[in-house]
Amino acid sequence: MPLSPASSVLVLLGCFWIATSRGNLSHDRSQPTTQDETVVAGSKVILRCQVEDHDESSLQWSNPAQQTLYFGEKRALRDNRIQLEKSTPNELTISIDNVSLADEGEYTCSIFTMPVRTAKAIVTVLGIPRKPQISGYKEPLKEGQTAKLTCVSSGSKPAAQLQWQKGGKVMLGKNPEVAEDSNGKTFTVTSHVEFDVTRDDNGVDVACTVHHASLPNSATSTTLKIEVFYVPVASIEPQPTYPREGDNLRLLCDGQGNPAPQEFMWRKEGIDTPLTVTQDNMLLIPYLNKSDSGTYICSATNIMGTSEAKYNLAVNGFPDDVLLNQTATPKDASPVAHSSSTYHAMIGGVVAVIVFLLLIMLIVIGHYLIRHKGTYLTHEAKGSDDAPDADTAIINAEGGQTGGDDKKEYFI
Ligand SMILES: *[C@@H]1O[C@H](CO)[C@@H](O)[C@H](O)[C@H]1NC(C)=O
Ligand SMILES: *[C@@H]1O[C@H](CO)[C@@H](O)[C@H](O)[C@H]1NC(C)=O
Repeated sequence: MPLSPASSVLVLLGCFWIATSRGNLSHDRSQPTTQDETVVAGSKVILRCQVEDHDESSLQWSNPAQQTLYFGEKRALRDNRIQLEKSTPNELTISIDNVSLADEGEYTCSIFTMPVRTAKAIVTVLGIPRKPQISGYKEPLKEGQTAKLTCVSSGSKPAAQLQWQKGGKVMLGKNPEVAEDSNGKTFTVTSHVEFDVTRDDNGVDVACTVHHASLPNSATSTTLKIEVFYVPVASIEPQPTYPREGDNLRLLCDGQGNPAPQEFMWRKEGIDTPLTVTQDNMLLIPYLNKSDSGTYICSATNIMGTSEAKYNLAVNGFPDDVLLNQTATPKDASPVAHSSSTYHAMIGGVVAVIVFLLLIMLIVIGHYLIRHKGTYLTHEAKGSDDAPDADTAIINAEGGQTGGDDKKEYFI
């Protein structure tokens, strides 16, 4: 049925009335207001309900189970954690202390006007993750073996993030596993990490840290110190550093390794029988003599294996030879000076080469000019160039001359 103009106007007015009354509703001075809250389990949450126009009615708070907590300033539920913070005709504020995950849900503030008006406040409780636990490490690992560690933290809501670190550097773990705890509210997060250990990992800290919204300032971590077994690295330290004939030479053998070497052995190259040493792995060669020269070898052994260090002793050699022959070469005291002198030597070399090339060029140019001039001067006696000796040259020259004369005669 088509609408008449008058009824159209009425419909429009009706729409306008609905629109404005809805607008009035959102600015309704009798409508209570609340706010959603997020709280960490164990702490205190404050629920505030306010209304501009109370219309002689009281405000009321009720919990997610629809139980009244407070009606005005009157306590309705016997729970000492729930306290009245403020009660005025325009505000009802309560607090819940030591919040648990069970307290989570939708709380309602109502005012018993006609009709009843309500406002909802959703309380979200964050579950604090428990201190992470690292498993998978029982005993020292051998260099090259793979460490397989697992970190677990339960009780987080929402699920927490786990992070691995080795020696303070972040290590990427595998994709974490998330499982719901038996309470049906919180989660257990598990992360695995694997890495091949090196000797540098010996004594290093491996940490698993849990990051979570409930721990904004203090992430919780668990740290584990790992031990790595590796073959010793033998080294020899002579005293004095530059021994000369007549000195009492002491050679100390050091073997960096884990575990520390249980056995040290000294021998001289070419001689099968081991040398006798002092208790602290020191080889003593008193009153150095030419016949002491040779290569001394120290071997250090632990459960992981053996390593050797060599020391070449040249008694009465030039001091420089002794210096060069040492296995434990002393560190260059002035590497900068050394490299700068190399630099100067290089510059000098380049300049010398340039000067040399210039000289060669001068000689070649000079030689060319002289030769050119010479060729010009001796052009008349061309035949002389190819002649093996002076006589033939003269004959050749004369022959050429004769040939030329012949030609001349022929042409005339
Ligand atoms: C907080 O509540 C838990 C149970 O949810 C209880 O075990 C604990 O003792 C309470 N702490 C305090 C301080 O009331
Ligand atoms: C050096 O040692 C050899 C053999 O050990 C010995 O015959 C010689 O006399 C020694 N020389 C000196 C100067 O001690």
